[in-house]
Amino acid sequence: MTTLPGQATAAVDGPSPADPLELAAAWLPADGSAPGPTMTLSTIGLDGYPSARTVLLSRFDGQRLHFHTDTRSRKAAELAAAPRACVTIVWPEAARQLVVTGDVAPVTDREARLAYSARTRYLQVLAWVNDTDLAAETAAARRQRWAAFDAERGERPLEPPTTWGGYAVTPRRMLFWRGATDGPSNRLAYERRSDGSWRLEAWPG
Ligand SMILES: Cc1cc2nc3c(=O)[nH]c(=O)nc-3n(C[C@H](O)[C@H](O)[C@H](O)COP(=O)(O)O)c2cc1C
Repeated sequence: MTTLPGQATAAVDGPSPADPLELAAAWLPADGSAPGPTMTLSTIGLDGYPSARTVLLSRFDGQRLHFHTDTRSRKAAELAAAPRACVTIVWPEAARQLVVTGDVAPVTDREARLAYSARTRYLQVLAWVNDTDLAAETAAARRQRWAAFDAERGERPLEPPTTWGGYAVTPRRMLFWRGATDGPSNRLAYERRSDGSWRLEAWPG
């Protein structure tokens, strides 16, 4: 892994607050600042095997990590069957990794609409046109459909399609990995107790 020595040392020597949400707030972009980092979203596949893909972190609201997707997608079906997930975010240049495991619930329509309006035009169009039928077309036909959609809508603001949806992960476990070039990496492993407080253990990196 490539690390910037100054940052890596700062990361490994950083604080270990009693509340991991405080540390998450320090590591994640401020709420509302776009774009968020990418994260590997792991769900439980309908066949019982892990199922993983990359999504954008739409926002961290101080308690939950939000992401957005097509409600016809595989991940949406998997979350309907088992509303639990793990997200992994890595910042190689800062020698940091955050793994969050938790319970997933859909966000409100209002939250989903706000997230849609914060997406780039490209991603807004993608949410409209990128469906299973289109995927089966040739590359030329896919581009044509894209161009036709753009020509039809012009520069007008887009509303989210009815298939646009959002989810939020409420952490049960949070694992903060902190690397170093001049010493051992380590992890802060937090687990939420039933009373809402957090148990903290130091793990090797
Ligand atoms: C960098 C990157 C960012 C992505 N962001 C999202 C996203 O925010 N939401 C989304 O639904 N898919 C996103 N995708 C596409 C997903 O990785 C995935 O291919 C798609 O959502 C279908 O996943 P599923 O079949 O497992 O549901 C992104 C892909 C990449 C490479």
